[in-house]
Amino acid sequence: MNNILITGGAGFIGSTLANFYSKDHKVTVIDDLSMGSKSNLETTANLCFIEGSVTDHELMTEVLTQTQFDYIFHLAAIASVADSVARPLETHQINFDSVFQLLELVRNNQFGLKRLLFASSAAVYGDEPTLPKQEESVIRPLTPYAIDKFAAEKYVVDYYHLYDIPTSAVRFFNVYGPKQNPESPYSGVISIMMDRYKKLLNKEATTFTMFGDGTQSRDFVFIEDVIQALNLIATSQDSLGEVYNIGTGEAIDLNKLVSTINDLLEVDLPICYEEERSGDIKHSLADISKVKAVGYQPKYNIKSGLEKYVSYELANRDKEGLDN
Ligand code: NAD
Ligand code: UD1
Repeated sequence: MNNILITGGAGFIGSTLANFYSKDHKVTVIDDLSMGSKSNLETTANLCFIEGSVTDHELMTEVLTQTQFDYIFHLAAIASVADSVARPLETHQINFDSVFQLLELVRNNQFGLKRLLFASSAAVYGDEPTLPKQEESVIRPLTPYAIDKFAAEKYVVDYYHLYDIPTSAVRFFNVYGPKQNPESPYSGVISIMMDRYKKLLNKEATTFTMFGDGTQSRDFVFIEDVIQALNLIATSQDSLGEVYNIGTGEAIDLNKLVSTINDLLEVDLPICYEEERSGDIKHSLADISKVKAVGYQPKYNIKSGLEKYVSYELANRDKEGLDN
């Protein structure tokens, strides 16, 4: 049984990872619940939840001096690119400073650590047009979020080379699936769409706001594939000091995404078009050869992933209906 720390572990990706590991391992989650929710976490004796901020030096020092962890997944962040454009200083403290602080705490206290895995982002590639993105492609971060992720990722990898701290970093492309919180205007686009579809099915008035003309495209990767990749990277020896793209290797534009979900649900989502967001990337697509070399094989394409997500949301909506 390993001892695992997951920061941001009440959030979308973090809670799915915590529920996956807490079946067989001891998991500690730290989350300030700014976007995440305790209800995302399954109740088990293996899981310990700490409400607090990764920017709280005293709290982080206490946690990292009192327990020796085998694995640390640092996922806590303000995950929204647009939010970082609106609040660059606040997001920098979480998206960069907390990583640097954690690395130092690990260097000074975590002597048996098997891996520290940091969640970086495909946003680091920016708008340089060559696709698909390989890990060695041109890096051109356009926003405070992307700059912070790239700087943090560099430190994470450097701590392996300089101090022999076992680290890896992953660049998630656009992750979607159950438990992604749609409440903020800055939430992941598929979770926002799903929220509007649920309203539509409940016969409430709703529209989806499309920023730009909908021809922007993303490599959307289903959460179960992300968990598969994280587990493989964390446990592989080849991944020490390495950075990996996590995506599917296929992209879809937003117009096609809407028409695919329209077909699945047999409805027509009303759309209102607005100016594209500043700092928005036009096209994003992963080359996943490197992560495939550690055994990753995505099980879902966009259609099968959406089918699974939609059926989860519909089952939950029926449950919510019964509860009311
Ligand atoms: P999320 O917002 O659901 O999860 C982040 C969690 O961190 C939330 O539960 C939030 O409450 C918590 N958090 C925020 N500030 C905190 C703080 N100061 N202290 C403690 N907890 C804090 O987002 P997610 O989609 O699960 O993203 C997880 C990680 O993956 C983030 O680092 C994000 O930048 C990165 N990422 C996500 C995607 C994606 O498509 N979802 C893509 C690329 C990178
Ligand atoms: C997402 C992630 C970011 C990650 C990046 C990696 C979130 C919130 N953001 O950013 O953490 O680093 O992928 O590729 O998970 N859009 C609309 N209407 C909306 C919302 C969004 O049209 O209501 C558009 C956006 O303008 C953008 C596209 O949808 O063109 C995707 O937006 P979003 O889901 O926020 O993702 P990214 O900005 O790609």
